[in-house]
Amino acid sequence: MKISDTHYRTIWPTAAGSVRVIDQSRLPFEFTTVDLETLEDAARAIRTMVVRGAPLIGAAAAYGLALAARSDASDQRLDQAARVLQATRPTAVNLAWALRRIRAALAAARPGERVEAAFLEAAAICDADVEQCRSIGVHGLEIIRALAGPAGRRLNILTHCNAGWLACVDWGTALAPIYMAHDAGIAVHVWVDETRPRNQGAALTAFELGAHGVAHTVIADNLGGHLMQRGAVDMVIVGSDRTTAAGDVCNKVGTYLKALAARDNRIPFYAALPSSSIDWSLDHGRDIPIEERSAMEVTHVTGRTAAGAIETVRVVPETSPALNLAFDVTPASLVTALITERGVCPASHAGLRSLYPDREATP
Ligand code: MRU
Repeated sequence: MKISDTHYRTIWPTAAGSVRVIDQSRLPFEFTTVDLETLEDAARAIRTMVVRGAPLIGAAAAYGLALAARSDASDQRLDQAARVLQATRPTAVNLAWALRRIRAALAAARPGERVEAAFLEAAAICDADVEQCRSIGVHGLEIIRALAGPAGRRLNILTHCNAGWLACVDWGTALAPIYMAHDAGIAVHVWVDETRPRNQGAALTAFELGAHGVAHTVIADNLGGHLMQRGAVDMVIVGSDRTTAAGDVCNKVGTYLKALAARDNRIPFYAALPSSSIDWSLDHGRDIPIEERSAMEVTHVTGRTAAGAIETVRVVPETSPALNLAFDVTPASLVTALITERGVCPASHAGLRSLYPDREATP
């Protein structure tokens, strides 16, 4: 995607041997990059959400393992590095998937070629993610086109959190069809859930859509249901951090409530995801580990003051405890369909098998 006419991915290796990422913790106020030099740098970037979003977490973990291999490519060191990376964010399954891919590439490489093999595999993961997201966009575009109809009526699409290019390597999952619809001349307007507590919608999705010229309005998380009752939402598209083999969709907390409201108002609810976000080893969403993050993300908010300083302020009484579970599960029964890189399918075992007959359950 382009920022001020320059094409960016969210992560890329530099000629100097480091891995450069866009610092999402500074957005939308500052567009800056950070260089990751070590395993610890990569783990910190994932944990503190300098990089975030399921596919990008996977890509960053892949490069993190490659950086670890550069300092010591022994199996012992790589086991330990993989454990460090795996512990950073437990819900997005892309993380474990990417680590498995790097480990397999390293196991197949000659001893002196392990580091190169790891970096090559990390780059391949990134390239594949871009292509998969582009493909999700193409399939999702057809759904939007059909909904807009021959007269091309203006569509209002609601999305939650950030499942755009910042959450991936490029394009995005939920936002890829929206970008393609906009580029194809279909009039789309996006209701952007602010997505408390970390405000990925208000900060990141709004930034992305604005940079691409897509009409959008940021709304408080709780407004979506009312807008649906008013007939102001034509469809919902969200991303996914982990989708089970039976089609349960785990995504940013609050997604489930949108799916319930969409069902009550007979509004189609789609989840867009690459196959790297599917956990073939699980059927039930209740078995997905839900990340619990610092209560401070709930008790405080960060923003820019009129004087230009970025500050964090408390919004909850000093004595009140807070709970910060970062994801929830939308049961497959509430999902109209899954949009994947291989096409659109029902959110069910049979649906996913029809697109991925080649997939075996992974441990
Ligand atoms: O906590 P985050 O910002 O990593 O959560 C991101 C989401 O929940 C996205 O919707 C999800 O990763 C899908 S991204 C294409």
